[in-house]
Amino acid sequence: MTTLGILGAGQAGSTLARVVIGAGYDVVIANSRRPETLTSLVGELGPHARAAWAQDAAAAADIAVVAFPYAPDDVLPVAELAGKVVIDNNNYMVWRDGNFPEVDSGRTTIHELRQQQLPTSKVVKAFTHIQFHERYEIRVPSDMLPAVVRLARPAGAPDRKALVVSSDHPDAVDVVTRLYDDLGFDAVDNSPLSESWRSAPGTPMWRHAIDGQSREDLVRNLRRARRVTVG
Ligand SMILES: NC(=O)c1ccc[n+]([C@@H]2O[C@H](COP(=O)([O-])OP(=O)(O)OC[C@H]3O[C@@H](n4cnc5c(N)ncnc54)[C@H](OP(=O)(O)O)[C@@H]3O)[C@@H](O)[C@H]2O)c1
Repeated sequence: MTTLGILGAGQAGSTLARVVIGAGYDVVIANSRRPETLTSLVGELGPHARAAWAQDAAAAADIAVVAFPYAPDDVLPVAELAGKVVIDNNNYMVWRDGNFPEVDSGRTTIHELRQQQLPTSKVVKAFTHIQFHERYEIRVPSDMLPAVVRLARPAGAPDRKALVVSSDHPDAVDVVTRLYDDLGFDAVDNSPLSESWRSAPGTPMWRHAIDGQSREDLVRNLRRARRVTVG
């Protein structure tokens, strides 16, 4: 059984926990506080989930997820994450996170900054452009499902959607490609991390976070992205 160590138990972390458990994974989940603060969540998630301190969730992970925004002063469990694939699902949102001039100027990407914080891990940008919440407007009952559930399809289905993956580590891309497949999605490799600006908020592909896009459309939309730099 593969264990996902999920650091971050908000909308993204808790929904991802639910879907990976449904796909046969175990989960150890943490927030920035004591594990007891997650008792109700792990009760809902069932026997394949447990709560832990962030350091312990990182230590237990076969695959780790950092499901909270980047900040330069983040204190991360670097030793416990060493050698591991670490999924970074953060979107750089200036209104929420403030400005990072080195990203705004195009010198680097937000995910390369996360890789610098975790120099011995294999950081992968993934799950950034799929909503972990219901549609903004509910018209039919399925609109109440998060897009990561609503859009999932078995391999080979004609309407299967694709998600992007970027990393400086090809084996980490393979791991996430298998995870996407287990959850009902194809993968498009947009590596290395320096290219991950092509799937940043506001780019052509990112506008499909609610309804998804086919592999062909995702490839085309990544190519159409234009980098807007400031400074
Ligand atoms: N929500 C979506 O649909 C969506 C879609 C794509 C990408 N994302 C990305 O996913 C990330 C999380 O979004 P969200 O909506 O889930 O945010 P959220 O609801 O605010 O949750 C953030 C979670 O991270 C935890 N956390 C913060 N710092 C931590 C640390 N150092 N160690 C362990 N846990 C820590 C928080 O714990 P405390 O409660 O203890 O503070 C909280 O559980 C963001 O970067 C966002 O851009 C979200």
